[in-house]
Amino acid sequence: MTNAEGQPIPVIIDCDTGVDDALALLFAVRHPGLDLRAVTCVAGNTDVDGVVRNTLTVLEQAGAPDIPVARGAALPLIEPARSARHVHGEDGMGDIGLPAPTRAPADVDAVTLLRREILASPRPVTLIPTAPLTNIALLLRTHPEVTRNIERIVFMGGAVATGNATPVAEFNVWHDPEAAAIALTAGVPITMYGLDVFQRVVVPGADVRRLRASTEPGARLAGDLLSHRPATPDVAADSEAGGIGDAGAVCTVVDPAGITTRLLPVEVSLAPGPTRGQTIVDRRPRPGESEIHTGVREQALVDVALDVDVARFVKLYLTTVEG
Ligand code: BDR
Ligand code: CA
Repeated sequence: MTNAEGQPIPVIIDCDTGVDDALALLFAVRHPGLDLRAVTCVAGNTDVDGVVRNTLTVLEQAGAPDIPVARGAALPLIEPARSARHVHGEDGMGDIGLPAPTRAPADVDAVTLLRREILASPRPVTLIPTAPLTNIALLLRTHPEVTRNIERIVFMGGAVATGNATPVAEFNVWHDPEAAAIALTAGVPITMYGLDVFQRVVVPGADVRRLRASTEPGARLAGDLLSHRPATPDVAADSEAGGIGDAGAVCTVVDPAGITTRLLPVEVSLAPGPTRGQTIVDRRPRPGESEIHTGVREQALVDVALDVDVARFVKLYLTTVEG
């Protein structure tokens, strides 16, 4: 998949690498239809310095060209940082013993790099945040002019049905709800690749074992990372099966037909208490008593992923990463 002119799609990934962010980076650097112009890092799965280190290591192991990587927000806009080390390990990369990178980060911060790369791109850029949206919110508030050269935002985050950080909130949105609300209402076309689809794309154990046995470092790394991804209940019997997680959001940029979406009103709950960080997706066929009595609330229209062709994305992921 390329854009309408047959050229690779310019993309920037904003991530909190992160086992599945690493899977997303591996895919992005190996897909010929994508032109990964920069990677920006934000606190999330682990602290921001750990994210920078992990991101540089992954790009190096993948044999990626010298793509600029910048350090971004160390803290959410309001909340404290709350890592997901219980899922991603002490080093944020599954503690699989990856070497320290020899590459260095850019000497500018993430917001500066985002602005520079977006405005310098000859074609509008697709932003792919796979992390809390702190960097993106800071960018949109600091340099709102960038929206003129953003094609769309495809973010991993939110949930239509069930959360993971809380019963109703997904981690990336829960970690920085205000930032998510800013991104959703920026007036840029936005696709939500939420938990409902994120959790379903699982690579079978036999494929993971083949990747792990590969002599090619990038493919082997993908296998090691996948085997670290916790199996969902559906594949519990297949202990090495692993979800591609954030990489699914990148797959949707290459292959939009792999997901079924609907343009729906979405609001991020900013209220303190049990709903904080929930993405409230309005799937009602008609307005209800609330709208009749008190008027329509201002909500962003978001292209929400409701279904995913699992076999299609697994195949796309494997063929891309294995070359
Ligand atoms: C999201 O949270 C992180 O743990 C993953 O990298 C993914 O971006 C899922 O809720
Ligand atoms: Ca992530």
